[in-house]
Amino acid sequence: MLKIRRARIEDLDSITEIYNDAILKTAAAFDTEAKTIEEQKLWFKNHGPKYPILVAELGNIVVGWASLSQWSDRCAYSDTAEISLYVAEEHREKGIGKKLLEAIVQEGEKRVYTRSSHESLRAMIRAFIFMNPLALNTSVL
Ligand SMILES: CC(C)(COP(=O)(O)OP(=O)(O)OC[C@H]1O[C@@H](n2cnc3c(N)ncnc32)[C@H](O)[C@@H]1OP(=O)(O)O)[C@@H](O)C(=O)NCCC(=O)NCCS
Repeated sequence: MLKIRRARIEDLDSITEIYNDAILKTAAAFDTEAKTIEEQKLWFKNHGPKYPILVAELGNIVVGWASLSQWSDRCAYSDTAEISLYVAEEHREKGIGKKLLEAIVQEGEKRVYTRSSHESLRAMIRAFIFMNPLALNTSVL
């Protein structure tokens, strides 16, 4: 059964593996070189309560993750966060990304990052992710 929960430091290897695979095989990540575990430890540490990381776990295996990150250090953007969303290639198109996205959007709403209604925001994000990958890459989210 799929479980969405807050990420723990022990999940970092799986999170990194999923992310590095996406760096190699997709244009979704703006990184072009695989992340080291040391870099990832710093990334994890910088995601305190304000910027949660969630994982999707299937039978004790982490198969995807989502996070909120600081968008900008300029004060007008303090209520703005960036969503990252990655599902392991072999587990895509089974509804896991959608569940993770819903969960991370809820986390954002708890923190007043997102002010649109659930449904309109979800529809908008889905439309941009799956209908126009180039728009996603211009940071529409
Ligand atoms: C984007 C990503 C997270 C989607 O995860 P997923 O688990 O495959 O998505 P889901 O199965 O939950 O599908 C969600 C919706 O997208 C649609 N979808 C998923 N993959 C699709 C594809 N390759 N082409 C068209 N539609 C697709 C599904 O049909 C579904 O639509 P619905 O809500 O109308 O039913 C996953 O493909 C991924 O990790 N891609 C690489 C990284 C990436 O692009 N991340 C996003 C930017 S940070």
